[in-house]
Amino acid sequence: MRRILIVGNWKMNKTASEAAAFVRDLIKALPASPSVDFGIAPPFTALESVRAALGASAFIQLGAQNMFWEDQGAYTGEISAPMLRDLGCRFVILGHSERRTLFGEQDDAIHKKIRAALKHGLQAILCIGESLAQRERGTTDEVLTGQLQGGLGGFRAEELTTLSIAYEPVWAIGTGRAATVDQAIAAHCTIRRFLSATWTADVADRARILYGGSVTPENVEGLLKSDQIDGALIGGACLRIDSFVKIAAVAQ
Ligand code: G3H
Repeated sequence: MRRILIVGNWKMNKTASEAAAFVRDLIKALPASPSVDFGIAPPFTALESVRAALGASAFIQLGAQNMFWEDQGAYTGEISAPMLRDLGCRFVILGHSERRTLFGEQDDAIHKKIRAALKHGLQAILCIGESLAQRERGTTDEVLTGQLQGGLGGFRAEELTTLSIAYEPVWAIGTGRAATVDQAIAAHCTIRRFLSATWTADVADRARILYGGSVTPENVEGLLKSDQIDGALIGGACLRIDSFVKIAAVAQ
């Protein structure tokens, strides 16, 4: 049985002090849940203040939005997995479509980042998803399996036991136009079939597959009703306490 995972990706929002104030309010409003895992991924600059604000509230996991694959060295502007671990991060989002499209991240770089994350005990949340043009051409499944192969090809099944995948159709991100429940389920089934066929049924059964793209308190219930949808990766709606708490209440 997979636990529901609700992750807030703050993207490039909130200063360190704004983030800490937000988290202090959030933990007052968000009751710990025996059945749901929560995560938040603030900008790098707010990781330390958010960790301090979370204090002993271990039920919200801290994560990062990206990292580099080397541990240290002459890589100006980059952040490594050991640095994230040292700041208390438990997970890292990798391959987000904004990294792919705005910063030119390719599957081979994402693959190296996943390897580094796992080596240092960070849970990786691999983001994949098709563009509108790819969906309209009928190539969604091919795009998803290609990104899975590119990111995960070469890993052994036993290395993928803590894997999470976020299905985020590019056309749904920040647009207010979420995928329908049927579209999300179809994509999640494609992903799970590919994991099972490429690795093992156990890898496919254990992997948490989250949906992301214009998730709101209004549409999250329909999505989470499906046993194929194991949680949500949320952008805009996690930047406000009220909507985050409403989403969390639905997920319980
Ligand atoms: O990582 C989160 C996704 O990009 C979704 O963002 O909820 O603002 O559409 P959104």
